[in-house]
Amino acid sequence: MTQPQTAIAISSLTKTYANGFQALAGIDLDIKRGEIFALLGPNGAGKTTLISAICGIVQPTTGSIKVCGYDSVADYRQARMAIGLVPQELTTDAFESVWNTVSFSRGLFGKPRNPVYIEQLLKNLSLWDKKDEQIRRLSGGMKRRVMIAKALSHEPEILFLDEPTAGVDVELRKSMWAQVRALQQTGVTVILTTHYIEEAEEMADRIGVINKGRLIVTESKDTLMHKMGKRQMAFTLRDALQAIPPALSHYALVLTEGGRKLTYTYDATQNGNDVSDLLEQFKTHHIRPTEIDSYRSSLEDIFIQLVEA
Ligand SMILES: Nc1ncnc2c1ncn2[C@@H]1O[C@H](COP(=O)(O)OP(=O)(O)OP(=O)(O)O)[C@@H](O)[C@H]1O
Ligand SMILES: [Mg+2]
Repeated sequence: MTQPQTAIAISSLTKTYANGFQALAGIDLDIKRGEIFALLGPNGAGKTTLISAICGIVQPTTGSIKVCGYDSVADYRQARMAIGLVPQELTTDAFESVWNTVSFSRGLFGKPRNPVYIEQLLKNLSLWDKKDEQIRRLSGGMKRRVMIAKALSHEPEILFLDEPTAGVDVELRKSMWAQVRALQQTGVTVILTTHYIEEAEEMADRIGVINKGRLIVTESKDTLMHKMGKRQMAFTLRDALQAIPPALSHYALVLTEGGRKLTYTYDATQNGNDVSDLLEQFKTHHIRPTEIDSYRSSLEDIFIQLVEA
């Protein structure tokens, strides 16, 4: 009973914790095979709960979850076998070597030893030269990569990354993005949670925004950025401007600070960035910026727009 195109099918999922708190309030979501899906939401939105339910760590209160066609409760073992999970809280045996940790994890899933696979995995994650190192001697970023190797040790079809780059520096974040994309090339479906819109923007094919246990939006990234993404440029002007010249009225310009600040808001995904046209116009109208600050919507902004909609 495999559904070739659907990696995960979630219907009417709710979760109420033992203390009566409802963390998931009716989730319907299908994840396609081979896609990278980013789950965005503020602290406490229910991201980890949702992932935990899919992975069978948290028991759903109502609703159903199918993983590669297997029910997450009734066919728990098969469903779990298809999943690799990198949890939000990193936990590893500090004194074990990288090689042993990853190999042992494969064994836990009852998979026969496969040193060739593990070697390739460690190489793909740039960990091969650290294979004999104790985990405690690795940097934070390396530890995260070990967690990913561990999660992939049993060759799962689906990889969950719960906040993979929280507290990770920009350079390493970029290298992790590249590694995740490389994984997608090998056919792995990736679901990640993040607070960073840039991360979702960079990585995801599709984005789900979750708030208070509800998926308030599920869209392809391009659609979401198109609908919600705004960019702004704030020009500090050398000479105060009395009013915006009528010739510029078709630009979304706002004049503040006694005419010394001009803010231009534009669509993040508009074809042909027209900022250069605007600058030409400034010149024509003797508007002279001394400083330009650019700004783009954060998840927070998009979020506020969504919640207020
Ligand atoms: N075991 C539990 N018992 C009771 N409530 C819980 C339990 N685990 C989580 N919660 C609550 O459920 C809500 C969702 O938590 P969850 O960890 O899923 O959020 P999250 O979106 O992953 O947040 P973060 O971005 O901070 O990781 C929170 O209000 C949390 O306090
Ligand atoms: Mg979480």
